[in-house]
Amino acid sequence: MKVFVTGASGFVGSVVVHELVTAGHQVVGLARSDASAAAITAAGAAVVRGSLDDLESLRSGAELADGVIHCAFMHNFSDYAAAAEADWKAIETLGAVLVGSKRPFIVTSGMGAKTEDDDITNTPSAVAARASEKTALELVAQGVHAMVMRLPPIVHGEGDRHGFTTRLINIAREKGVSPYAGEGLNCWPAVHRIDAAHLYRLGLENAPAGSRLHAVGDEGVPVRDIAEVIGRHLNLPVVSIPVEKAVEHFGFLGALFPRDISASNKLTQERFNWHPMQPGLIADLDQGHYFN
Ligand SMILES: NC(=O)c1ccc[n+]([C@@H]2O[C@H](COP(=O)([O-])OP(=O)(O)OC[C@H]3O[C@@H](n4cnc5c(N)ncnc54)[C@H](OP(=O)(O)O)[C@@H]3O)[C@@H](O)[C@H]2O)c1
Repeated sequence: MKVFVTGASGFVGSVVVHELVTAGHQVVGLARSDASAAAITAAGAAVVRGSLDDLESLRSGAELADGVIHCAFMHNFSDYAAAAEADWKAIETLGAVLVGSKRPFIVTSGMGAKTEDDDITNTPSAVAARASEKTALELVAQGVHAMVMRLPPIVHGEGDRHGFTTRLINIAREKGVSPYAGEGLNCWPAVHRIDAAHLYRLGLENAPAGSRLHAVGDEGVPVRDIAEVIGRHLNLPVVSIPVEKAVEHFGFLGALFPRDISASNKLTQERFNWHPMQPGLIADLDQGHYFN
């Protein structure tokens, strides 16, 4: 299959490209810079130059393709509304090219739900505010073979430079302490990026329109365990801080860190015969590459 991948140079998209190329698919990646174009070419894919703001570049990439995977996102947390708007406009543009065809379209979203069958589109969450999922599922009603890949807030693996794990490590280094909020028994889901990439391919090849796939490796890691492994590797004290101090300590992550956001992967495993094989979050952190 010829697959157009946005975000093909990113932490997630680059392993999706590798997974697809290795499985014999032809890949065309969207690149907004010479550096990204070079990385995509080196991964064995062709390049369409453009950006999320250049909707014509998205159309031309999708027109060439038998399937589309949308991984690009402007990670500008100081203007999340603008990033979300660029995202849904890109999804609508890509979807408009695919109307009435059987060409699969995978849209990346966040988690925000316990199970695959839970609808998050009308919940007051940051994931719902991003509107990727709502926009994608509305396309299904218009005759697009669209589906949603829900990624947990922690996607981990070698080369992670700005994910939440790296941010937690950087905050611990800066403040000289690795805390958790309250008892730290609340849990976060996580996935290794190689397992996630494999699920993108299975979804592309097999999933029905309207599917919501949970790329969840660890269904729930207690945040206290995350703080402990970070403290151990950085040789820093691991302490509890009051929940109400979490935002002061962690910045925007502090609103999330005290919450239990564990999520299931049961239906995704059953429906798509996907079984995460890579190290879980704690084992991956214990390999040490996050601390070099
Ligand atoms: N990593 C995680 O922990 C995590 C967790 C949950 C959800 N997600 C979601 O997974 C998806 C992929 O994330 P990621 O971790 O791979 O992010 P990333 O490493 O920041 O990569 C983002 C990708 O989007 C591209 N991009 C950014 N702005 C663009 C623009 N204006 N026009 C065209 N391309 C643009 C980047 O291109 P350049 O290489 O040129 O910058 C890069 O290829 C996103 O939807 C993200 O929100 C990720």
